[in-house]
Amino acid sequence: MAVLEIRKAGEKVLKEQALPVENIDRIIKKLLSDMADTMYEYDGVGLAAPQVGVSLRIIVVDNGDGLIELINPVIVDSQGTETATEGCLSIPGIFGEVERYSTVTVEGLNRNGKKIQVTGSELLGRALQHEIDHLNGILFIDRAKSITTPR
Ligand code: CO
Repeated sequence: MAVLEIRKAGEKVLKEQALPVENIDRIIKKLLSDMADTMYEYDGVGLAAPQVGVSLRIIVVDNGDGLIELINPVIVDSQGTETATEGCLSIPGIFGEVERYSTVTVEGLNRNGKKIQVTGSELLGRALQHEIDHLNGILFIDRAKSITTPR
Protein backbone atom coordinates (compact mmCIF):
# COMPACT_ATOMS: atom_id res chain seq x y z
CA MET A 1 0.00 0.00 0.00
CA ALA A 2 1.33 3.34 -0.99
CA VAL A 3 -0.48 6.63 -0.93
CA LEU A 4 1.06 9.04 -3.42
CA GLU A 5 1.26 12.81 -3.31
CA ILE A 6 -1.54 14.48 -5.25
CA ARG A 7 -0.40 17.23 -7.59
CA LYS A 8 -2.37 20.44 -7.42
CA ALA A 9 -3.62 22.79 -10.12
CA GLY A 10 -0.80 25.04 -11.28
CA GLU A 11 1.67 22.17 -11.63
CA LYS A 12 2.84 21.62 -15.18
CA VAL A 13 2.13 17.86 -15.25
CA LEU A 14 -1.61 18.59 -15.01
CA LYS A 15 -1.54 20.60 -18.23
CA GLU A 16 0.40 18.09 -20.32
CA GLN A 17 -0.81 15.62 -22.92
CA ALA A 18 -0.07 12.27 -21.24
CA LEU A 19 1.69 9.54 -23.23
CA PRO A 20 0.20 6.11 -24.03
CA VAL A 21 1.44 3.13 -22.04
CA GLU A 22 3.33 0.85 -24.41
CA ASN A 23 4.21 -2.00 -22.09
CA ILE A 24 2.27 -2.99 -18.97
CA ASP A 25 5.17 -4.00 -16.77
CA ARG A 26 5.55 -4.34 -12.99
CA ILE A 27 6.08 -0.62 -12.61
CA ILE A 28 2.76 0.14 -14.33
CA LYS A 29 0.94 -2.47 -12.21
CA LYS A 30 2.43 -1.00 -9.04
CA LEU A 31 1.37 2.46 -10.19
CA LEU A 32 -2.22 1.23 -10.75
CA SER A 33 -2.31 -0.19 -7.21
CA ASP A 34 -0.81 2.95 -5.69
CA MET A 35 -3.27 5.14 -7.62
CA ALA A 36 -6.19 3.13 -6.22
CA ASP A 37 -4.74 3.39 -2.69
CA THR A 38 -4.41 7.14 -3.16
CA MET A 39 -7.95 7.55 -4.55
CA TYR A 40 -9.44 5.64 -1.61
CA GLU A 41 -7.29 7.46 0.95
CA TYR A 42 -8.63 10.82 -0.23
CA ASP A 43 -12.21 9.61 -0.88
CA GLY A 44 -12.02 10.33 -4.60
CA VAL A 45 -14.29 8.79 -7.23
CA GLY A 46 -11.44 8.68 -9.73
CA LEU A 47 -7.79 9.50 -10.23
CA ALA A 48 -5.61 9.99 -13.30
CA ALA A 49 -1.86 9.31 -13.42
CA PRO A 50 -0.91 12.97 -14.05
CA GLN A 51 -2.49 13.74 -10.67
CA VAL A 52 0.28 11.72 -9.04
CA GLY A 53 2.92 13.30 -11.26
CA VAL A 54 3.08 10.59 -13.94
CA SER A 55 2.30 11.74 -17.48
CA LEU A 56 0.90 8.43 -18.74
CA ARG A 57 -2.59 7.49 -19.97
CA ILE A 58 -3.83 5.59 -16.90
CA ILE A 59 -6.97 6.15 -14.82
CA VAL A 60 -8.69 4.46 -11.89
CA VAL A 61 -12.36 4.97 -11.04
CA ASP A 62 -14.66 3.65 -8.31
CA ASN A 63 -18.18 5.04 -8.05
CA GLY A 64 -19.02 2.58 -5.27
CA ASP A 65 -19.52 -0.40 -7.56
CA GLY A 66 -15.89 -1.55 -7.50
CA LEU A 67 -12.50 -0.54 -8.81
CA ILE A 68 -12.04 0.03 -12.54
CA GLU A 69 -8.50 0.28 -13.87
CA LEU A 70 -8.05 1.55 -17.42
CA ILE A 71 -4.88 1.92 -19.44
CA ASN A 72 -4.96 4.05 -22.61
CA PRO A 73 -8.70 4.75 -22.23
CA VAL A 74 -10.64 6.16 -25.20
CA ILE A 75 -14.28 7.23 -25.37
CA VAL A 76 -15.73 5.17 -28.21
CA ASP A 77 -19.43 6.04 -27.81
CA SER A 78 -21.51 8.71 -26.09
CA GLN A 79 -25.13 9.69 -25.63
CA GLY A 80 -26.89 12.85 -24.51
CA THR A 81 -25.58 15.58 -22.27
CA GLU A 82 -26.24 16.64 -18.71
CA THR A 83 -24.85 19.18 -16.28
CA ALA A 84 -23.87 18.42 -12.68
CA THR A 85 -21.46 19.53 -9.98
CA GLU A 86 -17.85 18.33 -10.02
CA GLY A 87 -14.81 18.65 -7.85
CA CYS A 88 -11.25 17.38 -8.17
CA LEU A 89 -8.62 16.17 -5.70
CA SER A 90 -6.14 18.43 -7.52
CA ILE A 91 -8.33 21.50 -6.93
CA PRO A 92 -9.45 21.22 -3.30
CA GLY A 93 -12.36 23.33 -2.11
CA ILE A 94 -13.54 24.31 -5.59
CA PHE A 95 -16.66 22.99 -7.30
CA GLY A 96 -18.23 23.72 -10.64
CA GLU A 97 -21.14 22.93 -12.90
CA VAL A 98 -19.88 20.92 -15.85
CA GLU A 99 -21.73 19.65 -18.91
CA ARG A 100 -20.77 16.10 -19.89
CA TYR A 101 -22.14 13.28 -21.99
CA SER A 102 -24.93 11.50 -20.09
CA THR A 103 -23.54 8.09 -20.97
CA VAL A 104 -20.15 7.08 -22.33
CA THR A 105 -18.56 3.84 -23.42
CA VAL A 106 -14.82 3.75 -22.81
CA GLU A 107 -12.42 1.24 -24.25
CA GLY A 108 -9.01 0.54 -22.78
CA LEU A 109 -6.73 -2.15 -21.44
CA ASN A 110 -6.88 -3.76 -18.04
CA ARG A 111 -3.72 -4.58 -16.08
CA ASN A 112 -3.41 -7.89 -17.92
CA GLY A 113 -3.33 -6.13 -21.27
CA LYS A 114 -6.82 -7.35 -22.19
CA LYS A 115 -9.05 -4.94 -24.09
CA ILE A 116 -12.11 -4.03 -22.00
CA GLN A 117 -15.12 -1.77 -22.43
CA VAL A 118 -16.86 0.12 -19.63
CA THR A 119 -20.19 1.88 -20.13
CA GLY A 120 -21.22 4.37 -17.49
CA SER A 121 -23.77 7.06 -16.84
CA GLU A 122 -24.38 9.41 -13.92
CA LEU A 123 -21.44 9.40 -11.48
CA LEU A 124 -19.48 6.66 -13.27
CA GLY A 125 -19.89 8.24 -16.71
CA ARG A 126 -18.94 11.64 -15.35
CA ALA A 127 -15.88 10.30 -13.54
CA LEU A 128 -14.66 8.50 -16.66
CA GLN A 129 -14.90 11.72 -18.70
CA HIS A 130 -13.31 13.82 -15.95
CA GLU A 131 -10.35 11.43 -15.59
CA ILE A 132 -9.81 11.08 -19.35
CA ASP A 133 -9.76 14.89 -19.53
CA HIS A 134 -6.82 14.82 -17.10
CA LEU A 135 -4.89 12.75 -19.66
CA ASN A 136 -5.30 15.61 -22.13
CA GLY A 137 -4.28 18.33 -19.70
CA ILE A 138 -7.87 19.48 -19.17
CA LEU A 139 -9.22 20.31 -15.70
CA PHE A 140 -12.92 20.58 -14.84
CA ILE A 141 -12.47 24.30 -14.20
CA ASP A 142 -11.55 24.61 -17.89
CA ARG A 143 -15.01 23.31 -18.79
CA ALA A 144 -17.14 24.61 -15.90
CA LYS A 145 -20.08 26.92 -16.66
CA SER A 146 -19.86 28.29 -13.13
CA ILE A 147 -17.51 27.88 -10.17
CA THR A 148 -18.36 27.86 -6.49
CA THR A 149 -16.03 28.05 -3.52
CA PRO A 150 -18.09 27.07 -0.46
CA ARG A 151 -16.82 28.38 2.84
CO1 CO B 1 -9.74 15.61 -11.26
